[in-house]
This record gives sequence, C-alpha cells and structure tokens, in this order.
Amino acid sequence: MNEANLGGRFTFPGTSLTVQRIGYGAMQLAGPGVWGPPKDPDGAVTVLREAVAAGVNHIDTADFYGPHVTNQIIRKALHPYPAGLVIVTKLGARRLPDQSWQPAISPQDLTAGVHDNLRNLGLDALEIVNYRAMGSVHGPKEGSIAEQVTVLADLRRKGLVRHIGLSNVTAAQVAEAQKITDVVCVQNNYNLAHRDDDGLIEDLARQGIAYVPFFPLGGFTPLQSSTLSAVAQGLGATPMQVALAWLLHRSSNILLIPGTSSVAHLRENLAAGQLTLSPQTLGQLDGIAAASAAVRD
Ligand SMILES: NC(=O)c1ccc[n+]([C@@H]2O[C@H](COP(=O)([O-])OP(=O)(O)OC[C@H]3O[C@@H](n4cnc5c(N)ncnc54)[C@H](OP(=O)(O)O)[C@@H]3O)[C@@H](O)[C@H]2O)c1
Repeated sequence: MNEANLGGRFTFPGTSLTVQRIGYGAMQLAGPGVWGPPKDPDGAVTVLREAVAAGVNHIDTADFYGPHVTNQIIRKALHPYPAGLVIVTKLGARRLPDQSWQPAISPQDLTAGVHDNLRNLGLDALEIVNYRAMGSVHGPKEGSIAEQVTVLADLRRKGLVRHIGLSNVTAAQVAEAQKITDVVCVQNNYNLAHRDDDGLIEDLARQGIAYVPFFPLGGFTPLQSSTLSAVAQGLGATPMQVALAWLLHRSSNILLIPGTSSVAHLRENLAAGQLTLSPQTLGQLDGIAAASAAVRD
C-alpha cells in the first residue's frame, strides 16, 4: 500500500503532528462488548502491525476499551513506537464489572485516566487526549464541560498531555472549551446516514480543526442502504469503502478511524483512499441521510 493513497495528509492545528487522513480505530481489538481480551490476541497484534506497515500513523484508542486491554495490545504490537505515529486517546469514562460505561469526570478520575493511559501505552506523555463527554448514549447533550477541560489544560501544562481534543460534544461545548485551551480535534458520531454534525464540520473546517467521525461505518449497527450498495457495485468497490470515501470527500478536515479486528477488512478500508467519487455519485449518496431520517421520524 502506498501511503500517498491514504486520503492525503492533515496537520492538527498549532501542532507539528501530520497524519494520513485514513487512520485506525482500535476499539474492536478488545473482546466482545469492548470487554476483556480478544478471541485472537495474535490476530489483534497483526492488524495493528499491518496498519502501521501500510502507512497508518493515526491510531485512536481509550484505556476504558477492555478496560486496559486495547492499550496493552497497542503497546505489545508497536512499542517502541515508530517516529510520527500519533496515538490519540480519550478520558471521561470508566467500566464497571457489569461492563457498563459510566462517567469518570472528577479531577481525580481524569488525572488517574491519564496515568492509566501512560502506563498501559508505555508513554511519558500523551500526544492528543480527547475529553469524551458522556452526554446521552451515543450523542452529545448540552451542559458545561469547563471543569473537565480545565483539568485537562492543567495536565497539559504539566507536560503529561500535549494537545487536547473533544468527543461527543455540541458546538456550544466546543466554543466553551476553546475559551480555556486550544482544541485540535473533535470526535463525534457521524456517517453517511447520521449527519447531525454537518454544520459543526463546516465550522471546524474554517478553523483548521480535525473532525474525526466515530462509527464511520455505522459502528454497532453497520451501514446498510440499497443506494450505497448500488453505488458500490457500479464502482467495483464495497459499500464500506464507498462510505469511507464519501467521508474523505465530504470535507478536507475529516480524518477516518474505521475500526476492525480483521486484516481483510483493514486492507479493504485502507484502499478506500483510492476511490474517487463523481459529483453525481456524491449527490446520490447525500440522499441516504434524508431517507434514513425519514425512517427514524
Ligand atoms: N469517542 C467515542 O465516543 C467513540 C465511540 C465509538 C468508537 N470510537 C472510536 O471510533 C472507532 C471507529 O468506530 P467503531 O469501530 O465503533 O465503528 P465503525 O468503524 O463504524 O465500524 C466497526 C464495525 O464495522 C466492521 N467493519 C470494519 N471494516 C469493515 C469492512 N471493510 N467490511 C465489513 N465490516 C467492517 C467491524 O467488524 P470487524 O472487526 O469484523 O471488521 C466492526 O463491527 C473505534 O474503533 C474507536 O476508536 C469512539
């Protein structure tokens, strides 16, 4: 794989961190339900090594995946880390023994979360940390995040965190955080069928801030659409490749972190960077969100 095909490059604003626009999301490397070890630990290591060998230099993770498991697999597969690899992690949640996801947002929780990430990843400082607001299940909810962002800004001053991002947030929360610290990326739920953030993406693009969709392939409910399948068939590609290529075309500040535990799917996803979609095809794909909103309403 030629890394020039991984969607081109993007530099996080105010940083020297430049990544390929197609990266990798590590959440699928833990066991079922993002809990415990994977069925095939060696396979997980292989997926990560294959991604980096193909030119991927942006990996998204969290210490609450597993918990700890995903970070430990990343360390096993890739440490000592190659120059230029940007590992982005997130804080704001913890897992309970019943596997539920609970907020972990006190200053003590956030500080402990940074140290968990440092220890399990084997790092002295975290390159980018997203504050992941718990909001509702997979969507943001209005409310101040100033206290948590201030804690992260303090950890940044101490040198444990180099840059700050946000996840599962509203436009108002982004603006609130920017009064406290620089924000280099925003990670929210967004894909062909789920386009609540269309306006936010434009706003972040104007500021040069990365928008990193989670669930780019639909997450726990994989994208399914007859239009998507028909477009993919016409292009000789898979529906997932078209979904990723659409995101790359959508805005130049969009970075991809599709998640997979499979080398075959990884290769398929990376190859999406080679797909060019015509304006007519983009128009067809744009109709999918309207159709799925009509089904939801
Ligand atoms: N900030 C947040 O709140 C948040 C929330 C969720 C996720 N994330 C991050 O975002 C990343 C991406 O999200 P995600 O992994 O949940 O969802 P996703 O990338 O939308 O989809 C992953 C699912 O699609 C399957 N898949 C991947 N490539 C495929 C392909 N080429 N063909 C068919 N199926 C394919 C995967 O299964 P296989 O393993 O079988 O390929 C997995 O079930 C995560 O890895 C995580 O790092 C962040």
